[in-house]
Amino acid sequence: MEFVKLNNGVEMPVLGFGVYQTPPEDTARCVTEALAAGYRLIDTAQAYGNEEGVGAGVRASGVPRDEVFITSKVWVSNMNYERAAASIDETLAKLGTDHVDLMLLHQMMGDYPGAWRALEDAYHAGKIRTIGVSNCYPERLVDLCTLAEVPPAVNQIETHPFRQQDAAHEVMERFGVVHEAWAPFAEGKNGIFSNEVLTAIASKHGKTPAQVVLRALIQKNVVVIPKTVHPDRMTENIDVFDFELDAQDMAAFAALEDPTFPRIFDHFDVDTVSWMLGDLVKTQQLGGATLY
Ligand SMILES: NC(=O)c1ccc[n+]([C@@H]2O[C@H](COP(=O)([O-])OP(=O)(O)OC[C@H]3O[C@@H](n4cnc5c(N)ncnc54)[C@H](OP(=O)(O)O)[C@@H]3O)[C@@H](O)[C@H]2O)c1
Repeated sequence: MEFVKLNNGVEMPVLGFGVYQTPPEDTARCVTEALAAGYRLIDTAQAYGNEEGVGAGVRASGVPRDEVFITSKVWVSNMNYERAAASIDETLAKLGTDHVDLMLLHQMMGDYPGAWRALEDAYHAGKIRTIGVSNCYPERLVDLCTLAEVPPAVNQIETHPFRQQDAAHEVMERFGVVHEAWAPFAEGKNGIFSNEVLTAIASKHGKTPAQVVLRALIQKNVVVIPKTVHPDRMTENIDVFDFELDAQDMAAFAALEDPTFPRIFDHFDVDTVSWMLGDLVKTQQLGGATLY
C-alpha cells in the first residue's frame, strides 16, 4: 500500500474500500474480506447505517486496529455543534473504537461551522486523528481553510473519468487539502467498465478498465475508495501498484471528461439540496436542533 501524508502529518492509504450501499448485514463480511485482500482504509458514514458492521469487520479481521484507517462522516441531521459532538460519540460507540482516523462533514449544509467546531474539539480530545469535509466546493473550501482553527485535511468529492474535477483539485492543492474521490467508477454508470478508451489502455498493460481508472486517479494525486461486495473485485481493485500509465495513457484518460455527464448527487440543484436538508428540518421540528 502507498500512503499520502496529510496536513497534520497523519498518513492515509491512497486506496481504500467504500461501503456506501453495502447492506448492513453484509458489511462485516465485506470489511473482513477487504482487509484480508490488503485494504487498510475503510470509508463509512453515519448515513450509511453500517458503522456497526465496519467495527465488527475490523475486529473479526485480526488486523490490529492501529493498522486500519477508518473514515466516517457526520450527516446533515447532525449539523450544529451539540448534535455533531453527540453524533461523534455515537459513531465511536457503533464502531466500537476509541477513535476514528478521519471524520468528515458529509455535506456543507445547515450550521456546518458549528459542526466543524465540534470536529475540532473532538480532534483536540483525541477522538479523531484528522478532520475533513465532503462535497465541499472551492468557495466554501477556501472559506474553511482560511478561517478554521484546524483546517480540513481531506475533501471527498465525486470524481471519476467523466468528472475529473481538475479545477477543484487545483484549489485543494493550493490549500494543502488531499483530494479523495467518491464514486471513482461513477457507480458503474455510462458503461464505464466497457469503455473503449479504458479497455484499450487496459489491454496495453494487461490490466482491466477498473484498474486503469484507479491507477489514473492515483497518478493524479487523488485518493480512491472503490466499493464492491465481491471478493474477486476487491482483489482486482487493489491490484494497481505494479504498473504505471504513461503520458499518452494519461492524456487519453483526461479526454474522457464529459461535461454532459449528470452529477450523481447534484449539489447545485435546488430540489436535491432541499431533499438533503429534509433530515435537518425534521430534526428541528422534533425540537432537536436549531438551524443556525
Ligand atoms: N461523500 C459522499 O457524499 C459519497 C457519495 C458516494 C459515495 N461515497 C463513498 O465512495 C465510495 C465509492 O463510491 P460508490 O460506492 O458510490 O461507487 P463506485 O465505487 O464508483 O462504484 C461501485 C459500483 O461498481 C461496481 N464495481 C466495483 N468494482 C468493480 C469491478 N472491478 N468491476 C465491475 N464492477 C465493479 C460495484 O458493484 P458490486 O458491489 O456489485 O461489485 C458497484 O455497483 C462509497 O462506497 C462511499 O464510501 C461518498
